[in-house]
Amino acid sequence: MLVLGIETSCDETGLALYDSGRGLLAHALHSQVAMHEAYGGVVPELASRDHIRRVVPLTESVLREARLSLGDLDGIAYTQGPGLAGALLVGASIANGLGFALGIPVLGVHHLEGHLLSPLLALPRPAFPFVALLVSGGHSQLYAVGGVGDYALLGDTQDDAAGEAFDKTAKLLGLPYPGGPALSRLAERGRRGVFALPRPMKASGDLNMSFSGLKTAVRTLVRDTPPGMQRDADIAREFEDAITDVLVAKSLAALDTAGLSRLVVAGGVGANRTLRERLTDAVAARGGEVFYPDLQFCTDNGAMIALVGALRLERGVVQDYAFGVRPRWELASLARPESHASG
Ligand code: KG4
Ligand code: ZN
Repeated sequence: MLVLGIETSCDETGLALYDSGRGLLAHALHSQVAMHEAYGGVVPELASRDHIRRVVPLTESVLREARLSLGDLDGIAYTQGPGLAGALLVGASIANGLGFALGIPVLGVHHLEGHLLSPLLALPRPAFPFVALLVSGGHSQLYAVGGVGDYALLGDTQDDAAGEAFDKTAKLLGLPYPGGPALSRLAERGRRGVFALPRPMKASGDLNMSFSGLKTAVRTLVRDTPPGMQRDADIAREFEDAITDVLVAKSLAALDTAGLSRLVVAGGVGANRTLRERLTDAVAARGGEVFYPDLQFCTDNGAMIALVGALRLERGVVQDYAFGVRPRWELASLARPESHASG
């Protein structure tokens, strides 16, 4: 089954072609980061208008790359939520318009399900069940994943998400948006042991997280210490270590709670090198294994949406093209795909 995936939930337009038998055939991405940079964050109206301009040319580009045409498609998957309503509507409209015209099924996909299953795009593929650490700009969550559509929430952040903490801390250090990658680069020049930041809720005994206190502690440090490039790098080093410490501890505790040995890491913060190295070592020391998406598929992309589309559309969907978007949508509310094919 050949599926076109469309991602337009935030500030990247992602298109991809995924085939159930042959895997990922092509993908293309346009990032709006440069456009939003001047505003220090994503401007929803500008995001929607830019998605409108990009989707069709990017669709043509992935079809060309895979040497296929619209007539070869068996289905279309688009990000239905969560995300910015206007941005989501762009993908939803194009997916349904195209699907209606071609007479093929269209499926609205949960953005976080895309992130969660994105490690299945890489080899070796993790086998179910596994624990997933989902760390993106909007989420810091741990799930026990039993299969497609079987997601039990084990732990959640009580305030800021990990990516949000990276972005806000980066802003305090005067780094450009989005702050995660920039802060991580700065941390490489930082020295350990110069500053001491808290490890919020590391020993809370549950799997929940909280990162807003960390950002507040950085604000105090920035206010109370003499400014300088080396100071900022030292703060970045300690911030990255603190957040990584918490994420590693919670991930190990989640593996214990779920009685599992496989960990999957997904979402933009999963691109962080320090986090990857420390998680890999900590899980390996316990005889387990960690699976990551390719770096390019950690942040938002169309490939993960096309993948979920193929996994779910294979089971068949009832189609009426009466589409909608879900700007707020709980991942744990999803159900396993049922087979409509057998009638
Ligand atoms: O998953 P994603 O692309 O978008 C959401 O669905 O939220 O995640 C974006 C987040 C941003 O907060 C960004 O700063 C963070 O992921 N991020 C990183 C790194 N690369 C992206 N954070 C830390 N280190 C990185 N290398
Ligand atoms: Zn995302």
